[in-house]
Amino acid sequence: MSEPNLTVVNHPLVQHKLTIMRDVGTPTSTFRQLLRELSLLLAYEVCRDLETELVEITTPLEKFKAPKLEGKKLCFVSILRAGNGLLDGMLDLVPSARVGHIGLYRDPDTLQPVEYYMKLPDKIGDRLCVVVDPMLATGNSAVAAVERLKDMGATRIKFVCLLAAPEGLKVFAEAHPDVPIFTASVDRELNDHGYIMPGLGDAGDRLYGTK
Ligand code: URA
Repeated sequence: MSEPNLTVVNHPLVQHKLTIMRDVGTPTSTFRQLLRELSLLLAYEVCRDLETELVEITTPLEKFKAPKLEGKKLCFVSILRAGNGLLDGMLDLVPSARVGHIGLYRDPDTLQPVEYYMKLPDKIGDRLCVVVDPMLATGNSAVAAVERLKDMGATRIKFVCLLAAPEGLKVFAEAHPDVPIFTASVDRELNDHGYIMPGLGDAGDRLYGTK
């Protein structure tokens, strides 16, 4: 059985913001703002091993070879719709990144993902793809999204979520042992309706004030 290739970002700021997001009394506007802040902090970790090259610049004092990101611009891939809540903070940190969208919803009876939309930037095989979805619950949507990306030619993929369930981590690691996962927390379990416990509820509803 594959062990998840997992990084839990347990920085105190991440954990503090996550606790406020979990609280049922936190209003939509605060939830959205915190998700934006948290996604920036998660992206910081995800980008830790990006490659750089030395380029010559001139400071006000002298010429100097300094590091800049190298290679094709990375691509954030949002699993709609809650993934979009993670995008803004990540784009604040990496404004030149490209963005792809994959529309998947969970069939409420089978909990299986159904694809209804996909749009990706060109040359996906040359880019690091960072797939974002706040909740890794059953793992089915994440597995399907990464499968589609691989079908389209992506070879370097990372997955970022806010919360992960042990069940989802296992399913994901078995399907995609080559894809590292970044999360702010591994929670206790999934309940019978596929919700992460203790979790934070429905991320899309809390983000957009729907229900
Ligand atoms: N999706 C959510 O939004 N919340 C969960 O707990 C599980 C899946």
